Amino acid sequence: MTTILYITANPKKEEDSNSLRVGRALVESIRQLDSQADIVEIDVYKQPIPLIDSHFLNARSRLAAGKSVAELQPEEQAVVRNVFQWTDQFIAADAYVFAYPLWNFGIPPMLKAYVDTIKIARKTFRYTPEGPVGLLSGKKAVLIQSSGDIYSEGPLKEFEHGSRYLKSVLWCGVHRGDSHARHGQRRRHGRSQPAEGADGSRAHRPQTVRCLSRRRRREAADV
Ligand SMILES: Cc1cc2nc3c(=O)[nH]c(=O)nc-3n(C[C@H](O)[C@H](O)[C@H](O)COP(=O)(O)O)c2cc1C
Repeated sequence: MTTILYITANPKKEEDSNSLRVGRALVESIRQLDSQADIVEIDVYKQPIPLIDSHFLNARSRLAAGKSVAELQPEEQAVVRNVFQWTDQFIAADAYVFAYPLWNFGIPPMLKAYVDTIKIARKTFRYTPEGPVGLLSGKKAVLIQSSGDIYSEGPLKEFEHGSRYLKSVLWCGVHRGDSHARHGQRRRHGRSQPAEGADGSRAHRPQTVRCLSRRRRREAADV
């Protein structure tokens, strides 16, 4: 059975959010294509995603020095176990759908907090003399990002640190070439336009989005 994590980062109601509505359309389509798929939803604005604190930093140093979790101080063990439950859930999944808005050129802060739980040395990547190496392979991710302005081209191109950042983070082995974005909501002046890939190219729609029925594709593009 395929396990898919649907990770959302938006305090808005789904019906009020472009990214969440596109995300929901995609997840429903996946369900139709694979009724056996286990789709686990993680709303990082509702789940108790831990923030990195001094106990975690101390624990991180001790683990890097060769200590086991059982050898850590009780408060360090607690925070490590808390963080690692999110890491382990991420590792156990086969694919990921991220849906979030672009905020101040970047991802929402709770999504960054979630990222800090999945980028863990010796779990999702490891350091080698040649540099860091990803430990997750054979997994895929779709990024659904909604923004007010257009970043695929023009003067704002260099300011897009949302999907670009997440793609870098997913370097730990996840195939993140599949990305999907809703750009330029402010520039639409109420006019509906087809969805674009993160690079602005309609030819680079993610595989999963290409699998949508024509009706679903229209719905996804019209929100
Ligand atoms: C706090 C905040 C910061 C934002 N920063 C940007 C930004 O830097 N660039 C941009 O293009 N749009 C920005 N926007 C606009 C949203 O990205 C845009 O409205 C998007 O469509 C929201 O997606 P949603 O409908 O899924 O919430 C910002 C919106 C908010 C609330």
